[in-house]
Amino acid sequence: MHKILSLPKETIKQSKLKSSILYMSNLEKEIQRRRTFAIISHPDAGKTTLTEKLLLFGGAIQVAGAVKSNKIKKTAASDFMDIERQRGISVATSVMTFEYKGMTINLLDTPGHKDFAEDTYRTLTAVDSVILVIDCVKGVEMQTEKLMEVCRMRNTPVIIFINKMDREGRDAFDLLDELEQKLQIKVRPLSWPINIGAQFKGVYKLYDKSLNLFEAGSQRNDKEAIAIDNLEDEILEELVGEKDANELREEVEMIEGVYDPFDEKIYQEAILAPVFFGSALNNFGVKELLDTFVNIAPEPGERETDKRVVHPEEDKFSGFVFKIHANIDPRHRDRIAFLRVISGTFERNRFFNHVRLDKKLKFSNPYSFMARSKNVVEQAYPGDVIGLYDTGNFKIGDTLTEGEKLMFQGMPSFSPEMFKELVNLDPMKTKQLEKGIQQLTDEGVAQLFTLQPGNKKVIGTVGELQFEVIQYRLKEEYKASCRFDALRFYKACWITTENEAMLADFINRKKGSIAYDKDNNVVFMAESKWMLDRACEDYEDLNFHFTSEFKLQQPVA
Ligand code: G4P
Repeated sequence: MHKILSLPKETIKQSKLKSSILYMSNLEKEIQRRRTFAIISHPDAGKTTLTEKLLLFGGAIQVAGAVKSNKIKKTAASDFMDIERQRGISVATSVMTFEYKGMTINLLDTPGHKDFAEDTYRTLTAVDSVILVIDCVKGVEMQTEKLMEVCRMRNTPVIIFINKMDREGRDAFDLLDELEQKLQIKVRPLSWPINIGAQFKGVYKLYDKSLNLFEAGSQRNDKEAIAIDNLEDEILEELVGEKDANELREEVEMIEGVYDPFDEKIYQEAILAPVFFGSALNNFGVKELLDTFVNIAPEPGERETDKRVVHPEEDKFSGFVFKIHANIDPRHRDRIAFLRVISGTFERNRFFNHVRLDKKLKFSNPYSFMARSKNVVEQAYPGDVIGLYDTGNFKIGDTLTEGEKLMFQGMPSFSPEMFKELVNLDPMKTKQLEKGIQQLTDEGVAQLFTLQPGNKKVIGTVGELQFEVIQYRLKEEYKASCRFDALRFYKACWITTENEAMLADFINRKKGSIAYDKDNNVVFMAESKWMLDRACEDYEDLNFHFTSEFKLQQPVA
């Protein structure tokens, strides 16, 4: 029978950390105590509720009910904008930093609405691990699969939280099978539920052999677990009743026979996902999730650039922008660029190099997001996310360094799902419209393609709601009016090739389906899958890609 690797209460890592801390530089110390992650889920699985409970443990909020959901129930742009305003334009909740057990934890928010999935994909480039929330009634849902694809692409380690165990959900073993099949990842339960729904009694923590009895209630819950080293102990009957005690014994034996022991290294390589069961609403199972997270989640890691791999311990500062947030107040055109620090130390009022523009910039009011309020920060370390006021210098993917000319990779644009032609309704405001669309696409709200010949502006998005948001913001912020006319494109495919002559021939023959993206890359606007398949067959030296960053993905055919 397998022995489960135990995760001691005061972790080995933390005590090692304390003893070796004297020999480390300040930068190394700061790196070791940082964890940067995101919670991802299909809408309604419980992401907002879990976020709130984690913040309760971190002392960042005092009562449950303080975190506003970013769900958009009605899909109209004005609803979206209202919600954004109520939430303080999302800025305060975009990053939530809190302290827990001596660690600084940066939790990055991801939008709940599927039309903003691309925003979520980009946020995932700025984290080192994720917690995936699954609804035990619904199992793996569509959005979960898509999000996991992105995690797999980037080898992001995942911890799974199976939520809503207080509801009549599916069999735990069936859920684990489904996770393995649909998400293509090995799983390993670290806690195990005792019954479910109205009969849910609690969880047995497999890693430290203790029992956590379920109690409903939404506030901070850090009741001590009951140690049960030997499951044959009769105390189990007393605590959960004979039937459930016997069932737990059988199931634990099965788990230990079927699943490999938990191995932190394989988790960090993103091959194995530890699984917890609980109920976020009842703040149950959340503490063990958080305790395990601080034990095993990876510290801020290295990142690829176009030149070399950058390591967090390097003295020189570097970081990249993964999100830009517009200030929706039309009187202030300022935006906030969210920058993830990758190496070295960021300092307020120090000049750094904006690589794409080859321009020196300094920031007098960089934000940190401690305890859900914005504070001016003097220094920031790898893993941290800071908010930089921007008057139009930044676009998604921009890199700041101390002078080295390198650009971080892994900020791809994905092929949009919907395409529409942008039609200007007020020729007097052409300039404003162009500026507006330029800025909105810099923010990553949508993608802009210029169709050839004729320079038609095509806007591509992943959802209908974004078109409404663009129209609304162009009007409110730039006083420009536009209309969107539907276009029948299936995908935008970026092309690479060594065969320049074949590419020239392709461009010549596919007039009307060739466009250029914002960075002047050539893109094939395929009208159907059939057309794309034909192009792949007929032009075998051309590689067609569904993302703008080709290294991350094999060609589509
Ligand atoms: P999301 O951010 O992933 O979209 O989900 P959210 O946390 O908003 O949760 C979706 C719904 O599921 C909410 O109910 C929430 O209260 C409920 N929920 C979350 N965790 C649990 C749980 O452990 N058990 C049960 N039974 N329900 C849970 P709602 O009715 O949509 O919203 P609300 O009116 O309660 O805010």
